[in-house]
Amino acid sequence: TKRWNIQNDESYNKQSIAEAATLIKEGNTVAFPTETVYGLGADATNEAAVAEIFKAKGRPQDNPLIAHVATVEQLRRLVDNLPTYAEKLIDAFTPGPLTFVLPSNGACAENVTAGLSTVGVRIPDHPVAQQLLQLADIPVAAPSANLSGKPSPTNAEHVWEDLQGKIAGLIDGGPTGVGLESTVIDCTQDIPIILRPGGVTKQQLEAVVGTVMIDPGLANEKEKPKSPGMKYKHYSPEVPLLLVAGTAARMQATIDEQQIKGNRVGVLASEQIARQLHRVEIRNLGANLHEIASNLYDGLRAFKQGDADVIICEAFSEEGIGQAVMNRLKKAASEIIR
Ligand code: TXA
Ligand code: MG
Repeated sequence: TKRWNIQNDESYNKQSIAEAATLIKEGNTVAFPTETVYGLGADATNEAAVAEIFKAKGRPQDNPLIAHVATVEQLRRLVDNLPTYAEKLIDAFTPGPLTFVLPSNGACAENVTAGLSTVGVRIPDHPVAQQLLQLADIPVAAPSANLSGKPSPTNAEHVWEDLQGKIAGLIDGGPTGVGLESTVIDCTQDIPIILRPGGVTKQQLEAVVGTVMIDPGLANEKEKPKSPGMKYKHYSPEVPLLLVAGTAARMQATIDEQQIKGNRVGVLASEQIARQLHRVEIRNLGANLHEIASNLYDGLRAFKQGDADVIICEAFSEEGIGQAVMNRLKKAASEIIR
């Protein structure tokens, strides 16, 4: 795996990103930073190249990938039909952490869409991703650059840990910003439907297009999610995670209980709660929901087997970006303590 560090030097950056774009054009896989999480990219029109992504990640074959492009014009070249509301969403939120599920025109390889009639397309808002996509000048299929089942990578070390030796290249562009994946929105019905909550909130979307639905499969255990990826085990830390709703006192009681059992405990909490806890190793995720979103996956990866037996994590507010934070935490949790 070739690794480029492009955090500081502008001239070196261009050279590195050009090399990475060439690798992708030649049918190889390259991990790169976006504003949400790192992606593992390959030529979306090359079936064999896309197959390498599935192989490196150990990803189930029926889980479709997002095609990344630099411009709206390139997005149009992948889809059949754009409803008026989708045009409005494109105007308002691209480039940005929003993925549009639209009727596919067949331009992407069949394994990108996992045989579905729709394709997910995103225009990322990150200078490195933008430059890479412009230089490659092809749609780039890119799931999050983690091993399937693990938390998504929010820095190059996370990618290295999971995929070193399994991919052709890694562009280290430093930590990502948003820290959670894009919002996936189905734009094939009369009303847009959120398939995965993410970087753009429901309130932000509704401010532009009015009513937005949430896939009932996300909240209801009995209903199957519309997005194939949402049914898999996800974001799993190395040790079990207990998600604790309520106050600092409730968290402290859970910590004490675990320690009495002889378990080594690691805590993930907001700054406000962290300050009130005692006698335990704590990762402070930040003072507000945006900071918490940005630090969450690094926190989930921080407590390794051997260092901790259990993670105790605060249940956060589901307002705004909190909806995406809690969606991920509920999937990561082995138990929710209310
Ligand atoms: O922020 C992100 O979206 C990151 C960065 C790299 O762009 N990518 C990402 O990709 O999170 P991935 O593969 O980890 O998640 C894509 C999600 C999956 O849940 C997948 O099932 C869903 O999008 N998806 C992709 N195409 C779809 C389609 N045509 N219909 C329904 N869901 C789709
Ligand atoms: Mg993923």
